[in-house]
Order: sequence, then structure tokens, then C-alpha cells
Amino acid sequence: MTGNYGWGLPIEASTFAHEMDSSLILVHISMVVIFVLWGLFFAYCLVRYRSRPGHNAVYPHHSAKHALGSFVPDVIVLAFEIWLIFIFGMPIWAHIKDSFPKPEDSTHIRITAQQFAWNVHYPGPDGKFGRTDPSLVDSTNPIGLDPKDPASADDLVVVNDFHVPLGKPILVDLTSQDVIHSFFVPEFRIKQDAVPGMMIPVWVEPTLKGQFELVCSQLCGVGHYRMIGHVKVDSPEEYRAWYNGLKQTQQEAQVKAAAAAVAAQPWE
Ligand code: CUA
Repeated sequence: MTGNYGWGLPIEASTFAHEMDSSLILVHISMVVIFVLWGLFFAYCLVRYRSRPGHNAVYPHHSAKHALGSFVPDVIVLAFEIWLIFIFGMPIWAHIKDSFPKPEDSTHIRITAQQFAWNVHYPGPDGKFGRTDPSLVDSTNPIGLDPKDPASADDLVVVNDFHVPLGKPILVDLTSQDVIHSFFVPEFRIKQDAVPGMMIPVWVEPTLKGQFELVCSQLCGVGHYRMIGHVKVDSPEEYRAWYNGLKQTQQEAQVKAAAAAVAAQPWE
């Protein structure tokens, strides 16, 4: 994990991470250049026009040529900033916010944030999310999945630690059970608020295998600091094996629980 972070930005682990970084770096470099040039100019003026005996301040009437000349640096900076926002920055943002992958071409999951965990809901091979109902939520059913709905049968729900396959986009429908949280995977360069009552889609296409931290970046209560999940990017085969293994474990646990419930019933 610590290898993902150094003195600079975290490693780039998604298709648009490099574009995000290039705009971030360009903004910082240009702001440093503008800051230094203006600083040098102010220092020059302070020395050149300092108070000295025998020198009085004069206020000559500027010609139109002078006035135009003093606007030139402003116009250059303005033109650069317009280019930065409209030509450079907005297409990157539009690519992330407008061009969503199709659900059938993606790993489509739902993530329900709650104080202080991430509940991850996979629809299973049928591609359909089982019905959920807030009245069914309890400690063993964090999203209130309805077991009577046929679409629930192959669904998988995991808390905090989840896997996704490499090689196709991840489409996440984000919501929250209680307060506003924020979904943030620094290596993917993706951050989005999870808001109660809203289902907000985000997408990302991972480019690296590995484990990355999913942190909550919105102060959401006393346990905010420990609201950490892990997303593990696997090869498609590893992902399938993880999914099937976990599904089987969950089904065995359900069968055991059902058998225990029957055994606990008094004999009539
Ligand atoms: Cu959830 Cu901070």
C-alpha cells in the first residue's frame, strides 16, 4: 500500500488518472510562473521607484499606446486561463462526467455508504440487482436485500473489502444510508459524494492490478477516520474465483443458519 504514495501524487491506476494529473501539474506550474514573474516585477518597481531625495513622483498623462502596453500582460494571462479552462480542462472533465460506459460492458456495482462502512452490492451473473428494502436492514443484511426476490439469488454483498476485474470499466451507483459520505480512491483520481436519497453514478477503468484504499473524504461523524475500504483489482480469472468462492461461503453460511433455526424449533 505505502508503495502507492510518495512525495508527489499517488501512482496513476486508472485510464483518466494521467489526464487529471497533467491538468493539475499544468495549473501548478503556470501559477508558480505567474507568481514569480509578478513578484520580480513588484521587486523591480519597489527598487526602481523608491523614495529618494530630489525625486518627486510625477503623474504624466498616458498615451493610448502606453495604456495598451500595460494591458498586454493581463491579456496574455487571460487568454492562457481561458485556454486552460475551456480548451484544456473542460474536455477532460466532460470525458469523465459525460461519457459513461454501458452497464453491459462494465462491472456494474452499487455502493451504499453508511456510518462507518462501505457496503458493496454485486448483481451476480444475471446482471440484475435484487430488490432492497430499508425495513430489511439488520446486522447480517446491511443493505436490506430481499431474499424472496429471484434476482437476489446470485447477488453478493460485501463490506469494505471488494474486488473488481482488470480490463473493463467499473460502473458504481453510489448512495448513502444515513449522512453524506464521499467516495475517494486516490490512485483512480475519483471522488464523489454519496448522498442519502440519491443514486449517483461514477465510473473508472483501472489500469493496474493491486490493492487501493477507498477512503471517505467527507467528515461524517466520530468514526469518519476509520471509514476505510479496500478495492482489489484482479485479473478476470482471479476476480471470478474470488466471486464464486465468496458466494459459496455465503450460501453455506445461509444453509447452516437455516438448519440451526429449524433445529432450534421446539418439537410439536
Ligand atoms: Cu463517511 Cu466520512
